[in-house]
Amino acid sequence: MGQKGMSVQRHIVEQERDFPKATGNLTGLLMDLIYAAKIISREVNKAGLVDVLGLTGTENIHGEEVKKLDEYANDRLFKAMDHGGHLCIMASEERDDVIHIPDKFPKGNYVLLFDPLDGSSNIDANVSIGTIFSIHRKKTDGEKGTLEDCLQKGSDQVAAGYIIYGSSTMLVFTTGQGVNGYTLDPSVGEFILSHIDIKTPSKGKIYSANEGNSKFWDEGTRKYIDYLKEKDSNSGRPYSLRYIGSLVADFHRNLLYGGIFLYPADYKNPDKPKGKLRLLYEASPLAFIVEQAGGMATSGKENIMDIVPTELHQKVPLIIGSREDVLTYQKFISENA
Ligand code: AHG
Ligand code: MN
Ligand code: MN
Repeated sequence: MGQKGMSVQRHIVEQERDFPKATGNLTGLLMDLIYAAKIISREVNKAGLVDVLGLTGTENIHGEEVKKLDEYANDRLFKAMDHGGHLCIMASEERDDVIHIPDKFPKGNYVLLFDPLDGSSNIDANVSIGTIFSIHRKKTDGEKGTLEDCLQKGSDQVAAGYIIYGSSTMLVFTTGQGVNGYTLDPSVGEFILSHIDIKTPSKGKIYSANEGNSKFWDEGTRKYIDYLKEKDSNSGRPYSLRYIGSLVADFHRNLLYGGIFLYPADYKNPDKPKGKLRLLYEASPLAFIVEQAGGMATSGKENIMDIVPTELHQKVPLIIGSREDVLTYQKFISENA
């Protein structure tokens, strides 16, 4: 189970001992990810200084090119992950196609999908942002991974997690044996176990949605949100609206406090309802985490973890959080289908 204050490295190694057949490859992969998270955290926390110090934004004091933080996070993740020999392929929100492991490096049996910086529109406002990752096993035969290895459903994930760069930097992830949270202690540069076996409340009092889009939602969703606003002290209504606009930050708060996050389908084109959030590296990893913490995640029509992806950057509606709240939502959807 681990003890508070334990480093993430020690906790991962101790958990690996529960799996005698473990090769150490997943452990190595996670260690490389953790290194990248520390580098990105340092840069995110310095981002404001780029303007304050009057840096050009094209060249910083170290003579390095200062890129957009999304690009920077993407580059740092790629450079941390490409040579460890644990991966056969990667895919990123910031790259149209799959990312192959350079020929000069050894290949491994895992697939890494990631959103290098989630909520990036909030960077200049100093609002919490994050990195989201999803890990699958290679399923094709060749040494080099393929697009097919990336297009796997959520229930086949080996591990999933996120790093939230907020008032402190936290790493939250699961390998299928529950969810743990680690807080970065910048004085030693280590993630320390701070939230053991996170369980999300079965019912919350918070809902998170961009109500500016409500006229494009389906009838069932609109009725559900109206229901949350009615007064009924027995069911803890009205709920409070909390919406940061960074998925990782909204998700993390609801995971700890309870509640429901909704990014419903947009029915501007009634024949082609579309979601905004991406299945492979936003919805699917967060669905794995929330299910491991006792919650639920649906597209409205089906469990996020059951959706078989057909495209790398496929978008889905995402309704995720406390189990009872998601079940109530699904009732409104089925009653207004
Ligand atoms: P990203 O910055 O990776 O593109 O993700 C932004 C997403 C997600 O973080 C957030 O929940 C959502 O966009 C907010 O969308 P709206 O601004 O349309 O509410
Ligand atoms: Mn995102
Ligand atoms: Mn992003």
